[in-house]
Amino acid sequence: MNKAAIILAAGAGTRMKSALPKVLHKVAGLPLLGHVIKALRQAGVDRLVVVTSAAGQAVRDYAQKMGCETAIQQEQLGTGHAAASARASLAGFEGTLLVVNGDMPLVTAGTIAECLKAQERTGLALLAFEPADPGAYGRVLMTPEGFLDRIVEFKDATAEERATTFCNAGCYAADAQDFFRWAARLKNDNAQKEYYLTDVPVLARADGVQCAVAITDEISVTGVNSRAELAEAEAKFQARKRAQLLAAGVTMTAPETVFFAHDTEIENDVEIEPFVVFGPDVVVKSGARLRSHSHLEGAHVASGAIVGPFARLRPGAEIGEKAHVGNFVEVKNAQLGAGAKANHLTYLGDATVGAGANIGAGTITCNYDGFTKARTEIGAGAFIGSDTALVAPVKVGAGAITAAGSVITQDVAPDALAIARGVLTEKPGWAKAFRERKKSEKK
Ligand code: UD1
Ligand code: MG
Repeated sequence: MNKAAIILAAGAGTRMKSALPKVLHKVAGLPLLGHVIKALRQAGVDRLVVVTSAAGQAVRDYAQKMGCETAIQQEQLGTGHAAASARASLAGFEGTLLVVNGDMPLVTAGTIAECLKAQERTGLALLAFEPADPGAYGRVLMTPEGFLDRIVEFKDATAEERATTFCNAGCYAADAQDFFRWAARLKNDNAQKEYYLTDVPVLARADGVQCAVAITDEISVTGVNSRAELAEAEAKFQARKRAQLLAAGVTMTAPETVFFAHDTEIENDVEIEPFVVFGPDVVVKSGARLRSHSHLEGAHVASGAIVGPFARLRPGAEIGEKAHVGNFVEVKNAQLGAGAKANHLTYLGDATVGAGANIGAGTITCNYDGFTKARTEIGAGAFIGSDTALVAPVKVGAGAITAAGSVITQDVAPDALAIARGVLTEKPGWAKAFRERKKSEKK
């Protein structure tokens, strides 16, 4: 069966009090909208239409970058009106349609699959959940037969209705053309004068179609409407990711202090010490050890490597098998070969470091002249003395040594020693004579 989805992302997001559209705020380094797109794709939904406001150019740009179609809701007249705004985009589409709120960053492919499965029962379905705190979610009222009776929005609900603990998640599935027929009949006679998507099931029932309700887990359908809810969603994301990784064989002594990105990949038998933070696009292979207070993004860490404490891996950092990156070492767009070591106080940017090379404390690749970046190539087994400045572009051959304190401005041949520093002269007794002269002058 063909599957398409409409993602609602045109809301004003008033409660965020932000210049940035709500759905572009991030959880685990990915916009809320990105999480929804990712889950739908993983659930096998190939056509995605993101509904944005006319002013929502930034949202449209993001949606298009993610390979989605876009539709414009000219005025923000409610979620039902927003979904109907995608009608022209899906004219002639035959198949199952999902309508999903764009502000549900914890949604997974499994959540979407539950909604699709429930839809097969009656032709129309939605997801509900029973949160510990139902807050301002729409309340789900059921018929004695176990179908949806109706949804009542919090603002329209009586005290008795508000006491209901089943809430509407904001994920619906129906036959596409049926859905648009029902959405066209929505009215806005409610507290907010909006066309509520949540009234669609009542209109469907008039056509003899009951709405099936699938109860899903509370975490996956957490909605974000305010900064406090954004922080809560982040916390829930992190808690879920930590639990998944622990279950998959990752060691964390204080998991509550480790923060992951949406796409962090960690293999089993990796050890992560407290206070490690991941930005997007990090892969860590089995047996690596990430020590405290390290920050990684866009990095690949091979088996047996040790990173940190206090290391920073930036995009393009590739740490080879059993390589070491120690305290106060920054690595950007640089590849360290197997067993290479940069243990202290070093910047390796736009560099290649051969297997087994040793980078002394305080080494700096001078990769930027204020205009362009240049590469440093260090051969296998080379020994870079402490406080070497490597002025790129420059190559140090395999097995070569640079003397401590050298400024290397030209290529060094394999197995050579390069010294580029002032020559030491020693003046015997000079210091003592100096002190005595100064003392007598003072008298
Ligand atoms: C909505 C549901 C509520 C449910 C909750 C789950 C309605 C009427 N209410 O409430 O039952 O419990 O989600 O999180 O649907 N949007 C538009 N155009 C609009 C209005 C909203 O595109 O005119 C988009 C928003 O960008 C957002 C989504 O629709 O992504 C939901 O809107 P929001 O205002 O967050 O609805 P809730 O009050 O959370
Ligand atoms: Mg919402």
